Amino acid sequence: MRDWWKPKIEMAKDLIISLLDAEKHDRKAFDCGESALDDYLKKTACQHLNKGIANTYVLTRRTEPRRVLGFFTLSFVEADVSDIPVEHRKGLPKSHLPAARLARLAIDSRCQGNSYGRILLVDAMRRVAGAMRQVAGVVGLFVDAKNSKVAGFYRKFGFIPLHDAPLTLMLPRQTILLAFPHVPPDTPVENLEG
Ligand SMILES: CC(C)(COP(=O)(O)OP(=O)(O)OC[C@H]1O[C@@H](n2cnc3c(N)ncnc32)[C@H](O)[C@@H]1OP(=O)(O)O)[C@@H](O)C(=O)NCCC(=O)NCCS
Repeated sequence: MRDWWKPKIEMAKDLIISLLDAEKHDRKAFDCGESALDDYLKKTACQHLNKGIANTYVLTRRTEPRRVLGFFTLSFVEADVSDIPVEHRKGLPKSHLPAARLARLAIDSRCQGNSYGRILLVDAMRRVAGAMRQVAGVVGLFVDAKNSKVAGFYRKFGFIPLHDAPLTLMLPRQTILLAFPHVPPDTPVENLEG
């Protein structure tokens, strides 16, 4: 996993990924070239966060903390076995399969091509791995790519396209767990606090 970061890790020292906060982050200036994604960040992301529908995380610089360089949105969904790539269907129930979904991912046009997309995607995977190990299982991480070029971006990271719907891709749970092998320690009951 770390190898994906190595080439540009120096640049990453100034970057931080945090949960979207309407008070702290300036959403108005964000422009990724896809108006539907820009509008989601500007108009809907905070509502979805507050209602528990989806969490949006933003990439900012420590030195420029209000400016949103990129964002991604994660939610949980229910999948059927027909949504899973054929080679990963074995032994699964037919329906009601828990899954995670990368509902959105976008980098401001002025900073695309600097590994920010990669950094956010790896962070999304890390969060899903944490949820799988510490909260509840999912069969994988789904994404709907905007077009075949963007599907190519996801394939680089191990996402597998569905045979009959190649713009829908799934990153299998095994891939995510292998990439993030850390198993959290047991919780002493005396440490349970709100
Ligand atoms: C797609 C997007 C998120 C990629 O982010 P980025 O910061 O520009 O990409 P990165 O610099 O992290 O690139 C990582 C790797 O993916 C490749 N890549 C980037 N964009 C790609 C694309 N559109 N198609 C195929 N490969 C792509 C890069 O060449 C790089 O490969 P390398 O490691 O071999 O050099 C970004 O360009 C974007 O926000 N586009 C507009 C909105 C959008 O389409 N979002 C996706 C919604 S499904």
